[in-house]
Order: sequence, then C-alpha cells, then structure tokens
Amino acid sequence: MTGPTPAESTPPSLQVSGLAYAYPDGHQALFGVDLTVARGERVALLGPNGAGKTTLVLHLNGILGAGAGSVEVAGLPVAKQNLAEIRRRVGIVFQDPDDQLFMPTVREDVAFGPAAAGLRGAELERRVAAALERVGMAEFADRPPHHLSFGQRRRVAVATVLAMEPEILVLDEPSSNLDPASRRELADILRSLDVTVLMVTHDLPYALELCPRSVVLSGGVIAADGRTQDLLCDEALMREHRLELPFGFDPRSVTAPV
Ligand SMILES: Nc1ncnc2c1ncn2[C@@H]1O[C@H](COP(=O)(O)OP(=O)(O)OP(=O)(O)O)[C@@H](O)[C@H]1O
Ligand SMILES: [Mg+2]
Repeated sequence: MTGPTPAESTPPSLQVSGLAYAYPDGHQALFGVDLTVARGERVALLGPNGAGKTTLVLHLNGILGAGAGSVEVAGLPVAKQNLAEIRRRVGIVFQDPDDQLFMPTVREDVAFGPAAAGLRGAELERRVAAALERVGMAEFADRPPHHLSFGQRRRVAVATVLAMEPEILVLDEPSSNLDPASRRELADILRSLDVTVLMVTHDLPYALELCPRSVVLSGGVIAADGRTQDLLCDEALMREHRLELPFGFDPRSVTAPV
C-alpha cells in the first residue's frame, strides 16, 4: 500500500493545546488544557460547577480567546481571520437555549446560520425542514421560539446547529431540563449523527450511554481522560472532583458503548 491511511491524513476534529484563560476581572478559569478529539469520536466533558467547562466551550468557536495556547478545528486555527469558517465547522448548543434563539419564528432561527453561510431558496428550506424533522419540531416551524417550553427551545437550539452540518457538535448540558422521553429522543438523535460530538454534562448515565470516552475538567485543568466506564467506576477520582452517580445507578452493570 502507498500513501497515508485516512486516519493519518484526517486532522482531528478538535485539538486544544496549552489553553489558559483569565476573564477580564482577573479570574483565571483555564490553566493549560490539552485535548484532542478525533473525527467521529463522541466525548463527554465532565466536571464540577465552576470547573471551566463552559469557558472551554466558548473558546471552540472563538467567542472567547486571546489567552495562552491554541485551538484548531479540523486543522484550522481558531483565529479572527478564520472565524466565519470556524463557526460553520463548530456547532455549539449553549447551556441556555435563550442565548441562541432570537428570531420571530422557529423557522427563521434555524435558517439563520445556513443563510449567513450563503444557502438560499429550496436548498435552504430543505436544510431547515430536515433539521427540524430530526429533532421532532417540524410542526413548530411558524411558532415564535419564546412561546415554546424550555425542552422545545432546547430541541430548536439543537436544530439550529444541525442545520449547519458542522464538523463538530458541542453541547453544553444537553439533557438538563428535558423530560425523560425528550432526553432519550435527543440521545437517539446524537447517536444517529455521523459527526464528532463533545458533550458537557452532569448527567453521568447520559455520558456513559453516549460517549465511549470522557474527560474530567476540574479547577481549569484536565484531571482525567479515559473510557467513560472506567472513570465512573473510579470512586476516588469521582469523589475528588465532586462527580456523583444518581441513587442506585451502577456503572458496572451497564454495557457501555466502545
Ligand atoms: N464572565 C465571567 N467573568 C469572570 N469569571 C467568570 C465568568 N464566567 C465564568 N467565570 C468563572 O470561571 C470559572 C469557570 O466557569 P465556567 O462557567 O466555565 O464553569 P462550568 O464548568 O461551566 O460550570 P457549570 O457546571 O456550573 O456550568 C468559575 O469560577 C466562574 O465563576
Ligand atoms: Mg457551564
């Protein structure tokens, strides 16, 4: 055989190197984070409140920056001159859906990103319809987002990002405030996507169900990186980083994805 194999020639979806960041008030939230996520991987980002998870997420498409270190998405550095392309490649579903829904109707919110990226007419309509269909919100297309329930707004927020067909999907606490059926439906959606996923979550069974690999961020540094099942079974690690399993949940009893 000649030439590199596809695995060698494809840059990782995400490469974070030595990332450190202090907020303008001087509070330092990240102290040198290294994280590589290969194409097609699904990785959970775990860690206690205040660990720096959202701060890290906000660096992935350049909302925050100018600290030390670097972030690359599929080989492209997150830098001012690349931001338009980076924002096409990185789809972030924010912790609060109200941070990303601002148009008069659901349809316009989902169309906003693809339209900004140059899609028009029937192609744009198809993209919007497919994304809404995917999250089970097609019949809500003409409703104002602010009339929807929290869980419905979360689904629309996911659709706004799916409509961009991103290289990497980043979700900040996707299962919070979802009812059990919606939580499972979102898991089914995420499993069905052929896309790299980085998922911030406090929902440890959800991490185990969806992500073969987890990373623990604690105090602004990566404290652990390994198989989700191994990390959840490591009682000392879990205690040290304030990670608690729900009552009665035994991660050993679950057949984890590989
Ligand atoms: N705008 C800000 N200005 C100053 N400090 C901030 C700001 N936003 C967050 N921080 C601080 O940075 C640290 C990391 O916050 P971050 O929101 O990234 O945590 P998190 O891991 O996402 O927590 P949670 O699980 O509660 O969502 C915290 O100590 C927080 O108080
Ligand atoms: Mg957060």
